[in-house]
Amino acid sequence: MSRSAHPAGPRHADVLPEGHYTAPATDLNELDAKVWSRTVTRDENGALTVGGIEVARLAEEFGTPAYFLDESDFRARCRAWADAFGQDADVFYAGKAFLSRAVVRWLKEEGLNLDVCSGGELATALAAGMPAERIAFHGNNKTVAEIERAVEAGVGRIVLDSFQEIVRVAHTAQRFGKRQRVQIRVTVGVEAHTHEFIATAHEDQKFGIALADGQAAEAVRRALTLDGLELIGIHSHIGSQIFDMAGFEVSARRVVQLLAEVRDEHGVELPEIDLGGGLGIAYTSEDDPREPHEIAKALGDIVTRECESAGLRTPRISVEPGRAIVGPTALTLYEVGTIKPLEGLRTYVSVDGGMSDNIRTALYDAEYSVALVSRSSDAEPMLVRVVGKHCESGDIVVKDAFLPSDLAPGDLIAVPATGAYCRSMASNYNHALRPPVVAVRDGEARVIVRRETEEDLLRLDVG
Ligand code: LLP
Repeated sequence: MSRSAHPAGPRHADVLPEGHYTAPATDLNELDAKVWSRTVTRDENGALTVGGIEVARLAEEFGTPAYFLDESDFRARCRAWADAFGQDADVFYAGKAFLSRAVVRWLKEEGLNLDVCSGGELATALAAGMPAERIAFHGNNKTVAEIERAVEAGVGRIVLDSFQEIVRVAHTAQRFGKRQRVQIRVTVGVEAHTHEFIATAHEDQKFGIALADGQAAEAVRRALTLDGLELIGIHSHIGSQIFDMAGFEVSARRVVQLLAEVRDEHGVELPEIDLGGGLGIAYTSEDDPREPHEIAKALGDIVTRECESAGLRTPRISVEPGRAIVGPTALTLYEVGTIKPLEGLRTYVSVDGGMSDNIRTALYDAEYSVALVSRSSDAEPMLVRVVGKHCESGDIVVKDAFLPSDLAPGDLIAVPATGAYCRSMASNYNHALRPPVVAVRDGEARVIVRRETEEDLLRLDVG
């Protein structure tokens, strides 16, 4: 596709339809470091580099759309979480955000543990050599086959999510002649301030066992009586993309309260609590995420204080950040295809991917940033909607953004902060080929998940 200039289209910056946006206060050539991975730079010609490599070169070598994952940023974030929580706590990376064998190796090298929630994630973790005792197994409806696999492999903990599962895991462990370490996931009754689909601690939803009506206490009672189980603690995950620490604090307080009740009733002090993941990241300049050390301090302080007042020994804390580690470390690179100016409304910029590589905008109304990254431009900003190539009008990548009005077919644009829940939720809708994930580091690029091919699609189609 040519990189020639687009014939001057209408400039919409001064005719804004109603909506949630403001005209950009800054030069569109400037990048807000907060939303881009740490090694991203931009030269005076506007060319963006990540991991020391120019994106135009990456596009040439790996094609578009593609995810580029900044490996040193990923590793630095793992270390920051591990350092912040220190020796008396455990950090489990939530593999659902994005998992591949390379990622598992990085986690292992950086001293993190891993949370998996399906047989596929467990298989990936084991295939890449994560020691089973550093794996936690989650899910609200683990199959018997998955439970068997996890118990047989010797995972460090299974997080129990229902009364049926307490029995299933206990029986499976007994059949294998083992005593499985387990936690019980409770719903603490917190309304997390996030999208309804990713809030998980209010009572009316499928995860966990409710604290409020005594169900969680009953689950503890049953788990303690079963020989196949070693109950090591209580787990709570309140939701995802959360900035306000208040929900975590209420959750920590209620979990500690349950520990005190368990001590009073059974004379047992459960040694661990897990406060889940869910910490928000910056998708746009308006988001203000917390640093891992602030989070560790806030959670550590509240648990210590609550335990002191209940006369409990402080349990070992674990957390399960997924998005906060991998989210900021990747960008998606797209090539601009068609550009459709709609007079008085906005300009639709279509790219060569869409809801098959990023379903989050359609699913959660998620907001993203976007920038022209193959060159600089002094043209006026124009209000755009970046859309994909799928057969749906909801196929939106970035709902409202400003790009230079001389944007042209063939330009490269990048969407930052796509490391979490983009490749892992990618689909083959319209028989799209899922994009590759390319790790970039110190001037070198390496495919860690290759691009799907038409042969891959046809291999499954055995009719
Ligand atoms: N632990 C448990 C038990 C979880 O269910 C989750 C996420 C995490 C940890 C990690 O949460 P994080 O730190 O990544 O927020 N697809 C949605 C997010 C769903 C999260 C599901 N559970 C999205 O794209 O926003």
